[in-house]
Amino acid sequence: MKELFGRLADGTKIYRWSLENGGTRLKVLSYGGIVQSLEIPDSRGRYANVSLGFDNIEDYVASSPYFGALIGRYGNRMDKGRFTLDGKAYQVDVNDGENSLHGGARGFDKQVWDIEPFTEGSDVGLNLYYTSVDGEMGFPGTLKTKVTYTLTGQGDWRIDYEATTDEATVVNPTSHVYWNLAGESSGSVHDHELTIAASRYTPVDKGLIPAGEPAPVAGTPFDFRVKKTIGENLREAHQQLLYAKGFDHNWVLDKGVTAQPEYIATLCDPSSGRTLSMSTTEPGLQFYSGNFLDGTLVGTGGTIYRQGDALCLETQHFPDSPNKAEFPSTTLRPGQTYRSATVHSFGR
Ligand code: BGC
Repeated sequence: MKELFGRLADGTKIYRWSLENGGTRLKVLSYGGIVQSLEIPDSRGRYANVSLGFDNIEDYVASSPYFGALIGRYGNRMDKGRFTLDGKAYQVDVNDGENSLHGGARGFDKQVWDIEPFTEGSDVGLNLYYTSVDGEMGFPGTLKTKVTYTLTGQGDWRIDYEATTDEATVVNPTSHVYWNLAGESSGSVHDHELTIAASRYTPVDKGLIPAGEPAPVAGTPFDFRVKKTIGENLREAHQQLLYAKGFDHNWVLDKGVTAQPEYIATLCDPSSGRTLSMSTTEPGLQFYSGNFLDGTLVGTGGTIYRQGDALCLETQHFPDSPNKAEFPSTTLRPGQTYRSATVHSFGR
């Protein structure tokens, strides 16, 4: 089902698509491919919207910290927005201090996507299309992107990304849902329990650019190999937590890059019993503990969002990979098709 959600300043109509399958309800905007609402039941069958967002297009355009959005061309940060590919230097849009974040000021999250619904066996879904022209936000090559949101018969939400280019470029798309499994206006997620199948993470400098070698999580607040709450080590006086005001780091997933999605993380809200289990083809996971939510935004449920009211689990290649030869490559060349997939499975 498709309904008019609002209009951009230039009159462009923004639609909201609603899907339901296997007990999961998803609402998606043609602006930014934004997941505006994602409802799942708790252990007693009561539904809640577990994804932060707004109830109107104006707030998404004016001040969204990427709530529910598709991110690209390059997820997370690139040092000073610069990289060199095949001997040629590029400068992409700088929008986060001196660095580039999430593809620049007008990334995938601020573009209007063409959407086509589909049904295939027991799956229902949406295909989202966006073509980023050569030079957009400073990136080389015309990048044709297709993102597929699928709700399976079991209620899993799967994202498939595909992209092709006509010139060598870099690409690293992701999805920026802010999760609160107790419901988007229910307060802090510090009691949620998280497990991440990663023995290392990439420490950052004060601009949140990876610096030095990936470091072992053992003996640090970054060790989520065994389930623990978000709050347990969040306030430890660790230099890496100071830089980011909490967790905002890339975990180096033990499984590495895989052809098919493999298990990487579980999030659980003990109060509602809702769980999220994730698998991906990607080598990295950015776990961001909602540090920059500061009580200035009013969400879908009519409450203000404060620090720690949600967390993001962004599957990706590592930040600043174009400048780090030792990281898995984000280069895409003409004739190749970029592919990645992430699956979110819900339980209660
Ligand atoms: C980044 C944060 C940033 C947030 C946007 C996350 O992916 O890692 O540093 O503040 O996106 O609100």
